[in-house]
Amino acid sequence: MAARCWLRSDLRSAVRSLRLRAACLHGAASLRQQEAPPPEGRFFSPVGGAMLLPGSFRDKVAFVTGGGTGLGRAMTTTLSQLGATAVIASRKLDVLQRTAEEISSQTGNQVHAVQCDVRDPQAVMRCVDQLEALTGLPDVIINNAAGNFVCPSERLSPNAWRTITDIVLNGTAYVTLELGKRLIQARKGAAFLAITTSYADSGSGFVVPSAAAKAGVEALCKSLAAEWGRHGLRFNIIQPGPIRTKGAFSRLDPTGSFEEAMLGRIPAGRLGTPDEVANLAAYMCSDYSSWMSGAVVRLDGGEFVSMAGEFNELRRVTTEQWAVMEAMIRSTKGS
Ligand SMILES: NC(=O)c1ccc[n+]([C@@H]2O[C@H](COP(=O)([O-])OP(=O)(O)OC[C@H]3O[C@@H](n4cnc5c(N)ncnc54)[C@H](OP(=O)(O)O)[C@@H]3O)[C@@H](O)[C@H]2O)c1
Repeated sequence: MAARCWLRSDLRSAVRSLRLRAACLHGAASLRQQEAPPPEGRFFSPVGGAMLLPGSFRDKVAFVTGGGTGLGRAMTTTLSQLGATAVIASRKLDVLQRTAEEISSQTGNQVHAVQCDVRDPQAVMRCVDQLEALTGLPDVIINNAAGNFVCPSERLSPNAWRTITDIVLNGTAYVTLELGKRLIQARKGAAFLAITTSYADSGSGFVVPSAAAKAGVEALCKSLAAEWGRHGLRFNIIQPGPIRTKGAFSRLDPTGSFEEAMLGRIPAGRLGTPDEVANLAAYMCSDYSSWMSGAVVRLDGGEFVSMAGEFNELRRVTTEQWAVMEAMIRSTKGS
């Protein structure tokens, strides 16, 4: 009897703490004292460096929005290492130029920097003009630029909504339509890739403009995969889980206290790395994946499924507790 009470209260507290964890940053902080770090972290060490064969992107041009920082920079570096000529575009020309020089000096391949605010369709048109003049039309287009910040939805202004959806959804649409039209006219094939996020599927509170816009990006890409395959254009999507980049974490986890809660729910026991996204992106944009279109690949160490299954919290039950549970279940007769 005492064992049953202890078990029930322990399970109840596990479930209660799960709710707390989702509810607030303070919940995350208090959980930190209760939970041991996931032992799985000792497995699944990240492997860096380019995975594909050297020269896989020789004579190819890759255009990467938001290529000056974070995941965009990592993807550009990998493609450049594999032989691509790269063009990176975003608002901050000085950042782009510095990144372009650093990557180019590391790989020996050309990296061009083009200023562009993807929210402005005229600016996108000018950027694509410049891209064509520099390298010709690209073989690879990665829609990676984004903006996001955590905010209770009741505090969102129309301007905040517009800013995020303009960068993420409209910006992706302007780049995709402008390049798509020109590629179709030139009868040139290309691989498009969009970087979204796992909550594009589920939605997520506190990042609602981003969730809505990323879901829109996925619908755009899947629709065009169906419509424009006949023009030699394919469209795929990567949904990364949490990966520490300055841009993402400074606006999504400003106090740093959410990171441990994230680690607690990732079965692989660690965050992802920019190189892991870069290698997957390189494969999905390469000729090795030319039969892949309309695909959505989640790369998150198992975080999404771990949050989704209602019984997954039972991983916190110890072997001794399982012995008691099993005895209770076996002793139950009828319904
Ligand atoms: N890191 C993660 O944990 C994570 C998880 C899931 C998904 N993602 C996705 O991964 C992608 C890259 O994010 P990140 O973590 O690498 O963050 P990041 O370094 O902040 O990258 C965002 C990039 O977008 C560019 N950008 C922002 N507004 C723009 C605009 N109006 N026009 C053109 N470019 C603009 C920024 O450059 P400028 O400031 O120079 O414009 C920056 O280079 C994003 O799509 C993000 O949603 C990241």
